[in-house]
Amino acid sequence: MSQVNFKYLTPYFKDKKVFITGHTGFKGAWLTQVLARMGAKIYGYSLDSEQDQLFDLVDGDFLCERSTLEDINDLEYLEECLVDCAPDFIFHLAAQSLVLESYNNPLKTFETNTYGTAIILEMVRKLDNPCTVLMVTTDKVYENLEEKRAFTESDKLGGHDPYSASKAACEIIIDSYRKSFFNNADYDEHKKSIASVRAGNVIGGGDYAANRIVPDIIRAISKNDEIELRNPQATRPWQHVLEPLGAYLLLATKMVDEPRKYNQAYNIGPDADDVLSVEELTSLAIGILGKGKYNSVKTEGQPYEANFLALDNSQIKEDIGWEPKWSAHDAIKVTFGWYNAKGEADVKCLLQIQEYFGKIKA
Ligand SMILES: NC(=O)c1ccc[n+]([C@@H]2O[C@H](COP(=O)([O-])OP(=O)(O)OC[C@H]3O[C@@H](n4cnc5c(N)ncnc54)[C@H](O)[C@@H]3O)[C@@H](O)[C@H]2O)c1
Repeated sequence: MSQVNFKYLTPYFKDKKVFITGHTGFKGAWLTQVLARMGAKIYGYSLDSEQDQLFDLVDGDFLCERSTLEDINDLEYLEECLVDCAPDFIFHLAAQSLVLESYNNPLKTFETNTYGTAIILEMVRKLDNPCTVLMVTTDKVYENLEEKRAFTESDKLGGHDPYSASKAACEIIIDSYRKSFFNNADYDEHKKSIASVRAGNVIGGGDYAANRIVPDIIRAISKNDEIELRNPQATRPWQHVLEPLGAYLLLATKMVDEPRKYNQAYNIGPDADDVLSVEELTSLAIGILGKGKYNSVKTEGQPYEANFLALDNSQIKEDIGWEPKWSAHDAIKVTFGWYNAKGEADVKCLLQIQEYFGKIKA
């Protein structure tokens, strides 16, 4: 596999051991590719899946030093994989990641997301080596009273649906572990720096999840069906999947340099004025793909989903100098361009990775 030198990031990750939970998921498959291209040794840990996955399309197994398909709630197995690996970095992405599924299966959602997060942190306690840990939560961790303002990191946590509640609970658990076991005063003993990252909805090529707008659009158009929009006026801070991944990686490098400074929660999202509705995204997609029609389905009787959600990204900008590189329009263009383009998935991903990471500077 050809490696790519992302001038600023590569020296931090080349030949380093990186443990990724959820490496076979949508974000995980992109992160695995980015890190593999930088020469990192990837140890992935996820559940097996019968669904189509980007991870399989890009031959993800080949990119990993070790790819384990087990449950993060299997303590013994996880301990064997994670503690024996003694990783330099951990990116914890594994989750039941869908709001609608969390209404169908709340207990499993809490088990995987909340208890699973505590388990990962417990494993981190068992590591003797220095380790930089990024715990991925979501923009949905805030109590959303639909006040039409962007959330800052100090806003009250909450969660209407089980998914959001499970992730808000993760934030409290992460903060508790940071204060109890990984505090700054004792850094020289524990040598762990833990941040949580709250990113918004991501879009990108290779997402096949159920009930997410981009795969829903692609599935409907491929079957010549109308695209059914549940909540056309809902606005979301759409960003390309490489945006939060770029922010996670940049933040991780800063944590290596100054482990006591950046071990906190960060919002990661587009700029405040870069928010589009579901309907706007769908119209743009139809324009790019050159076909498709949509209609709105009645939301009465459907589970609650927030109408307005925006993040204030000024903290991460100020602290580490991260900036969104692609506007919502760019992200939509790049995403549907991926599905439209001919060629192998790994080549299409590589081109977009090179384009995006070429823009990252320290
Ligand atoms: N995709 C988004 O728009 C978005 C937005 C905000 C936050 N997030 C968060 O980012 C992370 C990654 O999201 P994604 O879109 O890649 O999700 P995904 O659903 O595509 O992937 C989830 C991954 O977690 C793994 N997993 C699930 N349950 C597991 C278990 N019990 N044990 C081991 N592995 C398990 C799956 O196998 C898969 O690899 C999640 O934590 C999600 O909550 C995603």
